[in-house]
Amino acid sequence: MIDKNSPLPIYYQIEEYIKERIQNKQFQPGDILPSEREMAETFNISRMTVRQAINNLVNENLLFRKKGKGTFVAEKKIAQPLQGLTSFTEDMKNRGMIPSNRLLFFDEEIVDPAITKELGIDPSAKVYLIRRVRLADGSPIALETSYIPIDLTPGLTADVIQTSFYHYVEDTLNHTIDYGTQVIGATLASTDEKEYLHVEKGEPLLQIQRKTHLKDGRVLELVRSSYRADRYTFITTMHRS
Ligand code: GLP
Repeated sequence: MIDKNSPLPIYYQIEEYIKERIQNKQFQPGDILPSEREMAETFNISRMTVRQAINNLVNENLLFRKKGKGTFVAEKKIAQPLQGLTSFTEDMKNRGMIPSNRLLFFDEEIVDPAITKELGIDPSAKVYLIRRVRLADGSPIALETSYIPIDLTPGLTADVIQTSFYHYVEDTLNHTIDYGTQVIGATLASTDEKEYLHVEKGEPLLQIQRKTHLKDGRVLELVRSSYRADRYTFITTMHRS
């Protein structure tokens, strides 16, 4: 398995050894790896070499370290194509994952005029203010705050929002969702995100702001989401014209 006569560097062979075990699920997400010392003894190599291999896999996000606890196998990243306006529920189902929601807040509120302006409604109009933790296979992926004009979605309830908002808009209200614009940036985890996304405070997160329009031009939603950067990534195909 480790061939000291091979022209391939030992650290590289160790990387391949670990990757293979992740691929064939001998090492599962969340599993702790044998310690550097144990691996060095098993393969009769230096701890420095083991550390180099592990550092490379940490940089590739296949492994992560917990201070004082050891090195663990990371969850697989969710790669989200940037084509197509999809919902969180659809995105997770398309990957064979089970979506769920933890509803933190649902109410009708008067909000910041900057928000009503974006929504194209009167500043005195109340909007649905909704906060949900979005989970995939039971683990938190994103914290999402949605602002939705009440007029557009009569009958929206906490129960409905526990499932798919887009499904309700399209299948129950028969609205046609047309397009969305999305701004993607970076942010650092606040105390809320620490609590709800199970990350460290100050950890980098992906921040996404989406504004979605119906076919008739009205704005359906303004949504601010923070996604765990260790679990989520975006993919786009670019054509050179
Ligand atoms: C994504 C988008 C949100 C949208 C949501 C709908 O998370 N960022 O803007 O509101 O999908 O998801 P669902 O239909 O699962 O509630």
